[in-house]
Amino acid sequence: PLVAVIVVAAGSGTRLGHELPKAFVPLSGRTLLERSLDSVFGMRDASQVIVVAPEDRLDEARAIATERAGAAGGYLDVVPGGNSRQASVERGLAVLRPDVDTVLVHDAARALTPSTLCDAVVAAVRASGAGVVPGLDLVDSIKRVDPRGTVLAGVDRRELSAVQTPQGFPRRMLVAAFAAATEELTDDAALVTAAGFPVSIIPGDPLAFKITTPWDLRRAELLLATPAD
Ligand code: CTP
Ligand code: MG
Repeated sequence: PLVAVIVVAAGSGTRLGHELPKAFVPLSGRTLLERSLDSVFGMRDASQVIVVAPEDRLDEARAIATERAGAAGGYLDVVPGGNSRQASVERGLAVLRPDVDTVLVHDAARALTPSTLCDAVVAAVRASGAGVVPGLDLVDSIKRVDPRGTVLAGVDRRELSAVQTPQGFPRRMLVAAFAAATEELTDDAALVTAAGFPVSIIPGDPLAFKITTPWDLRRAELLLATPAD
């Protein structure tokens, strides 16, 4: 049974505000898509990689992915995205190979995600037979507020987790959850949970943060400029 990774890279990056779609924005000399694919192709086990790219950049995405797939072997597909993240994931699910049993969904925008986090998600899905999501504890105090900004109550942050990608699932759960989806939710685990399947958290990695704003891009540049010890 094979592992497939769907890398969603078809967003426009409105909040980043760059002229290029976010996955094609350079980060210290290499695009977010190149960097996120490096971590996916660095996995121990990713037999099918599906890149979901903007319709008008399929050739560019295919060139980037083919170059990196070379040594790793395995199957590579590049498909056009939809109007929402969820629609883009669905386009990826449509081309899963028949022998895939475990599916990871990953944001290209999480360009610095270590391969080891992807491997840990695969291992946890296999061990549990359930959905697995990397998450980080919150550090700030969290408040519930009304639309006017009035604080209604504190929220116990120990009950919360800030979740990242890659999120991994047994194929049948993810496919059933998408088939049952009645609304747009912000991540895949939300759909799987809504469909009644179990999802659990494993420790996330601070490097798997999502590059959303110009400040995030700056942070990523600084991290790359500073050798880790
Ligand atoms: N994504 C996608 N298709 C979409 C929307 C988003 O494949 N229609 C992908 C993005 O490329 C990104 C990931 O989903 O890798 C997470 O989305 P987000 O960070 O929100 O990226 P964008 O939607 O591009 O950014 P923004 O919301 O600021 O426009
Ligand atoms: Mg978005």
